[in-house]
Amino acid sequence: MVRTKFIEILRGGEEGRQLSRREIQILLGARKGEECRLLFQAADRIREEFVGKSVHLRAIIEFSNFCRQNCLYCGLRRDNRRLPRYRMALREIVRTAENAAAEGYKTIVLQSGEDVWFTRNRTADLIRRIKDQTGAAITLSVGERYPEDYRAWKQAGADRFLLKFETSSPALYRYLRAGLELKDRLNSLQALLDLGFEVGSGNMVGLPGQSIRDLARDMGLILKYDFDMLGIGPFIPHPDTPLAGARGGGVEQTLKFLAAARILTKNANLPATTALGVLREHGRERALLAGANVVMPDVTPEEYRRKYEIYPGKTRPPVDRKAVGRMVRGLGRGIGRGRGFRPPARLPSFRTS
Ligand code: 5AD
Ligand code: SF4
Repeated sequence: MVRTKFIEILRGGEEGRQLSRREIQILLGARKGEECRLLFQAADRIREEFVGKSVHLRAIIEFSNFCRQNCLYCGLRRDNRRLPRYRMALREIVRTAENAAAEGYKTIVLQSGEDVWFTRNRTADLIRRIKDQTGAAITLSVGERYPEDYRAWKQAGADRFLLKFETSSPALYRYLRAGLELKDRLNSLQALLDLGFEVGSGNMVGLPGQSIRDLARDMGLILKYDFDMLGIGPFIPHPDTPLAGARGGGVEQTLKFLAAARILTKNANLPATTALGVLREHGRERALLAGANVVMPDVTPEEYRRKYEIYPGKTRPPVDRKAVGRMVRGLGRGIGRGRGFRPPARLPSFRTS
């Protein structure tokens, strides 16, 4: 049974009407079967209209798994003594980036735990070298640092920054991130936006204690900040963390959030996250059919990749570029040729077909 109310809200969202928190909650609570199908189809239409058929690839290099933080959900947390730690040498990181560029990647994502060995200057130097050698767009995903660090990295040639807000509930955030404050995260995000980075953020779906109302609030925060990119993934419990026994997020709820994010943001870049691919064999394909337009293959050398275990299953051999190409073409889509910046917003009234 499809609820009339659901259809009305879906149509409103698609047409660009501003939805209330309560309406967003109803969208996120799409019922299994027909309602979900309509939600995913609407997201796929909006994706086609606003960002087209291209799937943009980003090569991720996980260059250090040291982290000074102690997030309850994450395998890299500092209290996880079972994880062997590594830090790639600067020249090794540059070489990995060059190889990725030679394979055709036009964006390099430099990702790590919060590792302050990579000082402002070391990181800036790394960015300059990779930019010089590859000309690729550079995305940083290295956590919270001083705004002056962010500024130096922007000047060195970084284009984008990923910093997920994880959850918009201040209490849940404080609990899950071992005393850190949501408002500090939001201040960092604002600093990044002010510096002119393309900013990616996002949340986890299915966190312990997270309600559907919290998820609706997450969406409200996403729309308020107008992030350029959104990483939306299910929470997957890691055995060597305090949340080992938690339930974790489901594929369906994550896809519903992703689809709603496409419908409401229109032109944001939305990756089919690795975590979705880990939970379900065709998780990434399903995401690409429910609003996603980005895939982020991991190009970290094998010996390190095995040790970047944020959640279980993540370190399995990655899909290589050719396999991603086949998957994308199999869906009737193509690999983006450009660097895949967020396209300019188009109003639906400009529609020509
Ligand atoms: N399950 C899913 N995603 C996780 N992350 C961290 N731990 C987990 C987990 N157990 C995500 C967070 C963080 C990024 C490093 O990985 O969203 O931003
Ligand atoms: Fe560190 Fe990020 Fe993991 Fe938190 S989520 S422990 S900041 S790597």
